[in-house]
Amino acid sequence: MSSDTAREPAIQVRGITKAFTDVQVLSGVDFDVQAGNIFALLGSNGAGKTTLVRILSTLLKADSGTATVHGFDVTSAPNQVRESISLTGQFAAVDEVLTGRENLELVARLRHLRNPGKIANDMLARFSLTDAGARRAGTYSGGMRRRLDIAMSLIGSPPIIVLDEPTTGLDPQARIEVWQTIRKLAADGTTVLLTTQYLDEAEQLADRIAILHQGTIISNGTLSELKQLLPATEVEYVEKQPSLEDVFLALVGARAETPADNSATAGKELR
Ligand SMILES: Nc1ncnc2c1ncn2[C@@H]1O[C@H](COP(=O)(O)OP(=O)(O)O)[C@@H](O)[C@H]1O
Ligand SMILES: [Mg+2]
Repeated sequence: MSSDTAREPAIQVRGITKAFTDVQVLSGVDFDVQAGNIFALLGSNGAGKTTLVRILSTLLKADSGTATVHGFDVTSAPNQVRESISLTGQFAAVDEVLTGRENLELVARLRHLRNPGKIANDMLARFSLTDAGARRAGTYSGGMRRRLDIAMSLIGSPPIIVLDEPTTGLDPQARIEVWQTIRKLAADGTTVLLTTQYLDEAEQLADRIAILHQGTIISNGTLSELKQLLPATEVEYVEKQPSLEDVFLALVGARAETPADNSATAGKELR
């Protein structure tokens, strides 16, 4: 690869279309994800997020359009794409019968890496699972299981990670744990493409947010750019109440690392 690679987008999507029998799911999707960014693809249920993720991870062929991942075309260089990307699906791929450590060692062995035991221990420590490492994953909470799932997908250090609805179905505390994990990944230089149907998740995590609606990206920008799309509202004076999420987290004793204005969108979902 050329020395310009670092400046190329980590993911480039151009004119991707996909139909299933009579449903046109994607009708021309375009966006770039810059290396090292967290990019959120925001859309309601059925918008086509998983379809796009499957195309980018070479599990599904687009009808037309092109996409490159880490400089490799998904159609002509699928093996290199797969080596550059790690996919964590909407439903956790953890083996419940194995312990956390065994799950990690298994992935390391499958990837033919040396010293799977050390890799597993490092991952357990990095994802705050050391104490739970010897327990069967079936006994883990939703947040622990999702963290293990993300840890498994990071073995082999792929430069790009794709997280399909990483916090759907998790309780508020587990969501915050997963958010912290995702922030750490990006801070370490991993490019993150995540899909979500949660406004607050995109708001909390993403450097850029693209809204997928009726088959295309209807807007794409930073949070402040997206906010400027709305006309200025009349100034109203209202007493600011804590959101239910604030109250819940205060009562259960979690230290939410979330900005105070989170209450504006906390828990709201696109429908
Ligand atoms: N293999 C398939 N065959 C037929 N329809 C599908 C298939 N996969 C997805 N769809 C349809 O495509 C649309 C988008 O689905 P999906 O990409 O899973 O959306 P999202 O992940 O945003 O919820 C839905 O209407 C879904 O029913
Ligand atoms: Mg989906």
